[in-house]
Amino acid sequence: MNEKKIAAEYSVNFIEDGMIVGLGTGSTVEFMVYKLAERIKAGLNITAISTSQATTKLATSLGIKISKLSEVEEIDLTIDGADEVDENLNGIKGGGGALLQEKIVASNSKKNIWIVDSTKLVKTLGKFSLPVEVVQFGSTHLCVKLENNGFRPAIRMKGSSRFITDNNNYIIDLKMEEVLDPVELDTKLKRFPGVVVTGLFYGVADTVIAGIGNKIKIFNKKKRVQNQ
Ligand code: A5P
Repeated sequence: MNEKKIAAEYSVNFIEDGMIVGLGTGSTVEFMVYKLAERIKAGLNITAISTSQATTKLATSLGIKISKLSEVEEIDLTIDGADEVDENLNGIKGGGGALLQEKIVASNSKKNIWIVDSTKLVKTLGKFSLPVEVVQFGSTHLCVKLENNGFRPAIRMKGSSRFITDNNNYIIDLKMEEVLDPVELDTKLKRFPGVVVTGLFYGVADTVIAGIGNKIKIFNKKKRVQNQ
């Protein structure tokens, strides 16, 4: 059983008629987009917002009209993939290079659902190299600075050229092993001039739908208990 596919197809049940829906990026999201296109053909009416050129291309080819983020006020629900998710539903994203738009769309969504296979569920983040989107200008120097600060950076390549994001930036992947405090690390990295965004997504996902074998497991963000 394809765990990505069952998680992705299940997530479409959360989409209701009339919703403004954010479409994430990646191979898991592709399954979701195919299913969504079927439901739209069957009469579902939604406004779709995309997080990448790749998702826009796929959605459009399946007859899903993509609207601009600037045309809507707030997104009702965004469904996206993730590279790693920990027990607090914090995650690493950006393996596909779409992290900036994914973060912007997520931050403008009332609810965020991530769809993953069982390999993405981890106790502590960090085995997956952390993608960091950086402006092209000064990126070689930035790599040296990161190295001097104890990081292990590598500029992402596509063949023999540097990978370029949809926003015309580069990606530096950081080998980490363990991210014990995602907020602290994100804050630290954003202090380096040239860093646009990191692939650390904390407090973003409300619900994670995981395909585990041929079953679905749903994880919901724990609500903070407020002291009276
Ligand atoms: C895209 O940049 C990423 O954030 C994806 O959401 C993530 O890499 C998951 O991708 P897959 O669904 O292809 O594993």
